[in-house]
Amino acid sequence: MNAPAPPASVKLRLRVEDDWPSILDVWVASWRATYPEIDFDARRDWLMRHVRELEAVGGVTLCLFDAGSTLAGFVVINPADGWLDQICVAPDRFGAGFGASLLTAARNVSPSVIRLDVNADNLRAIRFYERDGFSRVGRGANTLSGRETIMMEWRPPR
Ligand SMILES: CC(C)(COP(=O)(O)OP(=O)(O)OC[C@H]1O[C@@H](n2cnc3c(N)ncnc32)[C@H](O)[C@@H]1OP(=O)(O)O)[C@@H](O)C(=O)NCCC(=O)NCCS
Repeated sequence: MNAPAPPASVKLRLRVEDDWPSILDVWVASWRATYPEIDFDARRDWLMRHVRELEAVGGVTLCLFDAGSTLAGFVVINPADGWLDQICVAPDRFGAGFGASLLTAARNVSPSVIRLDVNADNLRAIRFYERDGFSRVGRGANTLSGRETIMMEWRPPR
């Protein structure tokens, strides 16, 4: 089954500096909902540094806002190689189609391939990607946590 479509009034745009507080709040909340035992608050500085580094080598950060101009989620993807490094939806918006909209936006940035790593125990995210046409193409380990990861890839249907 497809994800529900988000309201038509959502707005997508490139990140600006004023978005940082919302981006960090959404990132912490979405990951805390996924791994409650991990202190993501302590990683705010890391995330900001990491996204800036990704952008410095060509990555783009796209922010998706709901009808009330609240940040519903964001995605960071590099059009040069299709590497999707970050995708998050605010947990009170899980299941509302915002994630699928972010993947559509990512495909517009990188139409020929999207690649990513997902933690092997992040079953919600794996289901989300597979529902959207991603395939499992390999296995690895997270460089920060050591957790087992699955490499996934999307390519346009031939
Ligand atoms: C991953 C993420 C962007 C997806 O957005 P979302 O709005 O939650 O996605 P959806 O609700 O559309 O899709 C999730 C799917 O997983 C299913 N699901 C939920 N919990 C599940 C679980 N424990 N096991 C298996 N499937 C599960 C949902 O039912 C849904 O599938 P369905 O449409 O067939 O019913 C969002 O959950 C998020 O920000 N997660 C935290 C950060 C993260 O994990 N990012 C990805 C890192 S690689």
